[in-house]
Amino acid sequence: MSTSTPELSFPPASTMEILYTKEQIAQRTREIGAQITADYAGQSIVLIGVLKGAAIFLADLARAIQVDNTFDFVAVSSYGRARVSSGAVKLIKDIDNPIEGKHVIIVEDILDTGLTLSYLRGLMLQHKPASLKIATCLDKPERRLVPIEADYVAFKIPNQFVIGYGMDYAERYRGVDDIRLFPDEAVGH
Ligand code: IMP
Repeated sequence: MSTSTPELSFPPASTMEILYTKEQIAQRTREIGAQITADYAGQSIVLIGVLKGAAIFLADLARAIQVDNTFDFVAVSSYGRARVSSGAVKLIKDIDNPIEGKHVIIVEDILDTGLTLSYLRGLMLQHKPASLKIATCLDKPERRLVPIEADYVAFKIPNQFVIGYGMDYAERYRGVDDIRLFPDEAVGH
C-alpha cells in the first residue's frame, strides 16, 4: 500500500527553478557568521534552532561563527501539509538548558508571517537572556502579519514558496542542497 497522500504531488526537485545555489547560500552564511563573530567578540552565545527547517542553516552557521557557542533546539507546530498557516503556534519541544543571563540567537529557516518568531521571542524573553537576536536564512517581508524583524538575514525573497536547504513541502525536499521555487501548480489543497 502506498504511504503517499494522493492529493499532493511531489515533482522532482531537479525540475524546479533554483532561487539560490549552494555556493550563494554558503557565501551568505559565511558573511553572517563573520558578522555574528564581530558582534559577539569575546562572548559566548547560545544558538537556538527552530526544528526542523533551521537544522541545516544552524549547522552551517555555527561553523561560520568563531565565538564560543552552544546549540539548543525548539520545535513548534508547523503548517503541516498546508501552505497556509493556521495562525496558531504551539510549542512542541522546549529548550533543554537554561538561557538566563546568556546571549541568545534564535536561528530560523524562514521569517514569513512572523507568527512563529514573535511567539518564540516572547517565550524566550521570559527566560531572561542577557540578549536575544534572530537569524534567519530567508525573509519574506511581504507576508508579515505581525511586526517583527530579524537581526541577521541571508536573503530577502518575494512571496514565493520555496523548498530545500532544510525547508520542506509536506516534509519532503529538506535535503535538497540549494533553495528552489516550489511550483504553484503542484500544490495540494
Ligand atoms: P511564520 O510563522 O509564518 O513566520 O512561519 C515560519 C515558518 O513557516 C517557517 O519556519 C517555515 O517552516 C514555514 N514556511 C514559510 N514559508 C515557507 C516556504 O516557502 N517553504 C517552506 N516552509 C515555509
